Amino acid sequence: MTARIVVTTHLPGDPVGLLRAHPVGRDAEIVHLDVTRKPTREELLDAVRGADAILPHIPDRIDAEVMDAAGSGLKIVSNYGVGYDNIDTEAARQRGVIVTNTPDVLTDATADVAWMLILNAARGMQRASRELHEGTWTGWHPAQYVGKDLVGRTLLVVGMGRIGLAVARRAVGWRMRILYTARSRKTEAEKAPVNAVRVELDEGLAEADVVSLNCPLTEDTRHLIDARRLGIMKNGAVLVNTARGAVIDEAALAEALEQGVIHAAGLDVFEREPEVHPGILGQERATILPHIGSGTEDSRNGMTEIAVRNLLSGLLGEDPPNRVA
Ligand code: DGY
Repeated sequence: MTARIVVTTHLPGDPVGLLRAHPVGRDAEIVHLDVTRKPTREELLDAVRGADAILPHIPDRIDAEVMDAAGSGLKIVSNYGVGYDNIDTEAARQRGVIVTNTPDVLTDATADVAWMLILNAARGMQRASRELHEGTWTGWHPAQYVGKDLVGRTLLVVGMGRIGLAVARRAVGWRMRILYTARSRKTEAEKAPVNAVRVELDEGLAEADVVSLNCPLTEDTRHLIDARRLGIMKNGAVLVNTARGAVIDEAALAEALEQGVIHAAGLDVFEREPEVHPGILGQERATILPHIGSGTEDSRNGMTEIAVRNLLSGLLGEDPPNRVA
């Protein structure tokens, strides 16, 4: 029987060519919503009807309604993204649908962006650069643009998975003391030469000069960093998020930056993308980027390759390598 495969957006790296190159994809009916925006809910529901496999990207919410629209033939949802909080994994389990993600290929690109934000936020680059562009720089002065030092300071990595570890590895260059939290006791950190010390979250927040959020978004981590926890952090601390926006209570962060509860924030992700909380958008001490963590050619092409491989494997009835549910 011919498989029906739905790719919900334009992806780099020729996903249709990769699918067609495989015997399973050669004769498949491939529906490709080849658009550089998020498909509307109606477009999504319409496209997935009768699908055996769906390859969505992070902005697509793949819930019970979408799975039911696809019908009982749906075998796999192969997410383009390492994060898969856009997929209702419980609904997938109930329907026997496999869910996969695209880890590893974006680890270093994302850790680089975390460090871009750490450096930018600590040194106030956003404001300094803007003033220069606007022609309002009045010339060098010792009291201008004075930021925070990083060498020898303390970094807390919240979520010591692959990306968290890559952030920690880079911190060795700044001779930082590294603290971390992680879901399981046995983490890659224990194997790695970063000398990271496991701590409780509140303890780490109280000690850290830089906090990097690298945990997945789950019901346990939604608003993990709220007003109370921002209050535990040092006044001079920098908070960086390259994970998912909703790990931080954005309204609480806007207030904390306004009140000087912490020094600065660097954010690549937001609670309601593409919207940004107005109190953060207008905040000089928030360095913000439009979710570019994985935005390198190798990462984005690699994610397509992995998503296609997972999808084909699921269609073949195998256990795909990056199965998460
Ligand atoms: C992911 O893959 O989850 C990232 O957020 C994409 O940059």
